[in-house]
This record gives sequence, C-alpha cells and structure tokens, in this order.
Amino acid sequence: MEYKAKKNLIEVKNENSSLFIEVINKGLLRIYKKKNNTDLIELNDSPRRALFKVEETNDFIEFNIGDYKLIIDKELNFKLFKKEKYLTTFNFNHPFDDVEKRLYYQVNIKIDDKKDYVFGLGDKMSYLDKKGYFFASYNTDDPSHQDELFPSLYKSINYLLFSIDKSFFGLYFPSTYRYTYDIAKTNLDTVKVNNFNAQQDFFLILGKDVKEVTQNYSDLVGHPYMVRMKMLGYSQCRWSYENEEMVKDVFNKFKEYKLPLDYIHLDIHYMDGYRDFTIDKTRFKDMKKLTDTLKKEDVEVIAINDAAIKLDTNFDLYNMLEKNGLFSKLNDKTYINTVWPGESAFPNYADPKCQKLISEYAYKFIKENGISGLWCDMNEPASFNGPLPKDVDHSFNSRKLDHEEEHNVYGEHMVKSFVSVFTKDNIRPYIFTRAGLSTTPKYAFAWNGDNFSLWHHLRYSLTQNLSQSISNFMFNGVDIGGFGGDTTKELLIRWIEANLFMPFIRNHSSLNTKNQEPYAFDEEALNIYKKFLDVRYKFIPYLYNLVYEMNKKGSPIIRPMFYNYEDDDIAYTINDQYMVGIDLLIAPILNKDERFRQVYLPKGEWVNYFTNEKIKGGKFVVLHENLAESGYFIRNNTIIPMFENLLHIEKEKIDTLVLHIYGKKGKVKIYEDDGKSMDYLKDIYNIYEAKFDNEVLNFKFIYQNYHSPFKTLKVIYENKTYTFEFKEYTNLSIKGDNL
Ligand code: GLC
Repeated sequence: MEYKAKKNLIEVKNENSSLFIEVINKGLLRIYKKKNNTDLIELNDSPRRALFKVEETNDFIEFNIGDYKLIIDKELNFKLFKKEKYLTTFNFNHPFDDVEKRLYYQVNIKIDDKKDYVFGLGDKMSYLDKKGYFFASYNTDDPSHQDELFPSLYKSINYLLFSIDKSFFGLYFPSTYRYTYDIAKTNLDTVKVNNFNAQQDFFLILGKDVKEVTQNYSDLVGHPYMVRMKMLGYSQCRWSYENEEMVKDVFNKFKEYKLPLDYIHLDIHYMDGYRDFTIDKTRFKDMKKLTDTLKKEDVEVIAINDAAIKLDTNFDLYNMLEKNGLFSKLNDKTYINTVWPGESAFPNYADPKCQKLISEYAYKFIKENGISGLWCDMNEPASFNGPLPKDVDHSFNSRKLDHEEEHNVYGEHMVKSFVSVFTKDNIRPYIFTRAGLSTTPKYAFAWNGDNFSLWHHLRYSLTQNLSQSISNFMFNGVDIGGFGGDTTKELLIRWIEANLFMPFIRNHSSLNTKNQEPYAFDEEALNIYKKFLDVRYKFIPYLYNLVYEMNKKGSPIIRPMFYNYEDDDIAYTINDQYMVGIDLLIAPILNKDERFRQVYLPKGEWVNYFTNEKIKGGKFVVLHENLAESGYFIRNNTIIPMFENLLHIEKEKIDTLVLHIYGKKGKVKIYEDDGKSMDYLKDIYNIYEAKFDNEVLNFKFIYQNYHSPFKTLKVIYENKTYTFEFKEYTNLSIKGDNL
C-alpha cells in the first residue's frame, strides 16, 4: 500500500482500489472511495488551509490532523483516534443484496453499545439515541406513522452524531439517493449505512466537543436562515379556516381573549379548486382587504401551496409550465399523478427556469393578496396514486436527472425557488416546508408533518424536534395539539406547555377533527393556554438572541440535555426534557393524568420560573405540576432579556427592554435589529452587554448601527422592578428587597 498527497487531497492505495481523504479544514474531512455528485445541493466545502501530517509504516498509513488520527490498513479500512484514544473503526463493504439483487455500498462504524450513543437523522419519530433501530432516508408522506419503527418521514437528513465514550464526531452523507441506517440493530456493535446508488463518500466532522462538531456540520451544509422576529410568535391554523368569516372569527376570538397571535395560516380551502396561487372568491371575496385589516392589528396571513399543480388547460400556471416544458416527465410526456386537486403535474423545480417562472408567479400572488409567507406542502413529493416511478425525468440543461436521484431534494428545490420572492423586497423569507434535507434550512424552516393527537406523539415532539435541531433543522416545531384525530383538553394544555419553547409554535389540526383553538374547550383551558403564551412572549428577546446565534454560528436554539452537559452521564439518557440555549431548562408533563414528574437538574443552581424556588442541581427532583403548571427552570445567576405585555411582535413598536436578573449576578449580550429586513447583512444591528454583580448593573452598547425604538430599560431583581431611561449605564446601583 502507498499514498500520494497533493495539496489537500491524500490518496491511499492498495492493489485493488483507493481511499481518498480530502482535508476541507481542521474540523472537516471528506472521505471517499469515489466521490458522489453533489451538484444538486449547495455545500460550503471550499478548502481552507489546515495542518495535517501523513506517515507510512509497513502495514499502515497514519494520517494526523489536530487531536485526531486515522490509521488506515491494507484493506483501506481505518481506525479513528482522538488524543491517542481509540474511538472507532470504519469499514467499507460492497456486499450483494439478496432482495434487491444488486450490489450496494456500505460503511460500517463500530460502537460499544454500553457506553456509546448515536444521535441525529433529523425528523424521525423516535428517541434521541437511535441505537437498536433501522431508519431510511427517503422522503415519505405516510400519515400513519406512529413511532420509532417507522423508518422514513418527510425529510432525509443524512447526518449521524456519534458520542463514543463522550467524544463526539459527526458523519454527513452528501448524496441525494436513498440511504438506510442500521443503527446497531442487526449487530449491537455496528452502525451500517447502506446505499445502492451512492458510493462510499461522507464527511467526517470533528471538533473538541459536541458544540464544535454541530457548528462544523452546520458550516458545511449551511446555517439556518435568519428568520423574522415575528416568526417567534404564535401561529394558529387548521384545515381549514375556509372562508373570510372563519378567519375573522379566529382573529376576533384571539383579540377578545387577549391571546397573543402573530400569524393565521390558510390551508388548502382558500384556493380555487386547489390550484396553487389562486383564491376561491366565493370564500374570500377580497383577500387583500382581509389581510390589510389584520395587518393593521399586527396579525399576518400565511398561505399554503402544494408542490404539484392541477392539470387544467384553463389554468395559466399549468399552461405556462407545460408550454415551456417545465414539468417532470415520464417517457418524454408530462408525468401525472393524483394530489389534492386530482390529476396533477409536478413542476421540475430542479430546473432554474422552472424556479424562476414559479417564483415570479408566487411574487405576484403574495403582493396582490397581502400574503406574508408561503407554507410549502406535499413536497416530498407526495402523490396519492402510488409513488413517482424511479425513472420520472427531472433533467435540465445538460444535467441528466432521474427521480431516484431527485426525490429527496425535490422539496428543497421547491422552497429554494421562493427565496427571492421575499429577499428582492428586502424582507426575510417566510418559507415553511414539510420536506427537506440537511441543506434545506438555509432556505426554509420546517414542521414535522402530520402527527396525531396522541400522548406518545406529544412525547416524541420533544425528541423529534431536538434531533432535528442538532441535525441543522434548528428552526422548527410540530403541530401543537396534534394534527390527526381529536385532541382533548388535557392533551392540548400539556402540548402547549411542553412545546412552548420550540422555536416555531403553531396549533394545527386536520379536516373533520374537533376544534382545538385555545378557546375551544372551557375557561380553564383558555386561561392556562393564555398564561403560557404570555410566558412565551416574555422570552422573545432571549429566543431572538438564540436565533441570531443559530444563523451566525450554526448553534441550535433548543438542545438535548447532553448538548450542554456532555460530561454528565445522566444527561445522555434524558428524552423528556430540553434546554433552550444555556439558561432555560424545560421539564414538562407528558403523560395523561400525571401531576408529578421526575426532573433531572444538572449540576449548578436552578430557579423554578413559576415559584422562584431555588434548587441545587446534580440530582433528580420530583416536581408537582398541576394542569396549570409546567417545569421551567432558569440557571441561577443569569440575566434573561425579556419583553413585557405583548400580544403581537412588531419590533418597531416595542419600546421596553427588560433585564430579569436571576440570582445575585449575571451577564448577557443582547442582539437587536429591525427583526424583519435583510439589513442585518449590512451590519445594521446593535449589540448590548449587561453585567450585574454586587447589586451594580453595567449596561453597555457594544455595537450600535441600528436606530433602536427602545425607550425604557426595566430591571427586575428580587421581585422588584426598577425603571430607567434606555441608555448606557455604568455602576448603576440596584438594591434588592433583602437589603
Ligand atoms: C397535509 C399537511 C397538513 C395539511 C393538509 C391539507 O397533510 O401535512 O398540514 O393540513 O395536507 O393541506
């Protein structure tokens, strides 16, 4: 065996084949037998200089980079070490499948099932640790999905995050073809990643801890885009608020009950016969007037549009796409399947010409109707008359592209078309998608599709969202209350309590199900729901700081416990709690009739948000949570930036920033911008720093380039509120009650 190194590419050869190691940077290696096509997705894999060393012995080639070492043997398999500690062995296989009667490509990774964990894979409805199960990446719309035995959902996120005895590394498989993952199911000590079409080709993502690995992965696939601040607000939806009266009724009830609300989503009934970008005028006689009326009251309207287009020779969008040959084809003819409008054709979103045409159409639609965002559905793509055949043709320009290769990226190609619809008006996109892969969050945010009003779906909402969050889908949420089936009063309440700090919160339910708006049950349900939404709206600046970090650095907003406490064995096993940033811990009730739950508080001191009780961490505690209570804990000695008394998030109207001090000291940096335009890219934003110690507050403007509407600074300390003019303060004395 021998090796050749040319710039950042090392080729290790035996008599049969070669293994390539491409050094992208010190946290990122691309390792392959043969490189796959990655032209359908955008990766930030332009090499940066990184120091590495290659050495040859009789039996091995040794490759060193930073703390990591790869020892490659004569079979071209390799062992991975970190600081001389053995982590795992990578094995490349090319076996024959009896069922498919085809050769497939396999990468095997060794683990010790007693102390190692395998996280990631995005939206699977399962636990955080994926060991013991089989999964697949093939975008699937099957509303019967119930649990961890269901291999594929709407997204195909080919990312695995390994914790090998608490050392983390990630693997990202960049091809768009279907993968399968046997996560230590067949053999307890082996993770097998298989693919028929894609060669053994993956990115090995390194880093000193889980945070660095996650950020390096996000750097590669693209940080999630900067959302509008308003998108942290509450959205109400159902299939469907099908006419103007129903939309107004929702709006009026929210207003009457003083329930916070930022968006109402329109499901498919608003369309004329389910034709995308049309309005059924018998249901909505003047959409623009409606959206304008709501906008005046700071509530905006989002409209669904489905991937496939109604086959209708009187429909100009259909005709335009057909005339220009921009539908996907089978045997050179437009391919037809059935979706909501009946017979439908599938725009070939892979083709830039199609993207352009459809985005112009979308632009006109949102402008004419005052629509604030696009909800992109059925883009796996979903089809009711069997799946799209593998040879449906999506070729464009000179690129040959069949459905097998395009399927998983079809949804991404759809949402990518719409980015310019918003950015050309200097507005941050509101593009909400069901399908996607790891690279999609730079164009769109997501929900997890059609869950059910079932208690175990509530439990999975945590692990599903958390797994997505560490897999680069950092701005996401599930249908609160559950989509399919009838929810109950108790389930709905527990759902909002549990999901209150998910980045995106929307209550949505299916056609013919029981109403599940916050006021659909009784006064008790309404009051509890309101109490919690009010809490959410207080935390908006805290959450917006995290949105900024997400977009800037690729760090998740919500995190599994182990993400913040990777030295803590117990943190790895917690599926029913989550962290929001580093200061907020959520431990809700997730079971029917339960009034007590065990909460794991990691080491440090915690403050119960509702009772202000201080609790020492490093142990499990039992918490009593009646129906109106949930386990929210703040890390002691911290400052949480907050807003007050908001029912809608209109950044320019918010004139008060609140600093809530928990404990005796704390420090926080606060990011502020206009919350909606692309101006932050021109550095039009502010950063403040607040420090509190010994009852003295320092509040500084670290960076100032945005004209802030803040007029008042409030400080909450030891249950007292102190009000000041909004400006810089040095050594401002704030005395607590206890002095
Ligand atoms: C799909 C979506 C769901 C929507 C329904 C009707 O099932 O996942 O959210 O309500 O279609 O448009």
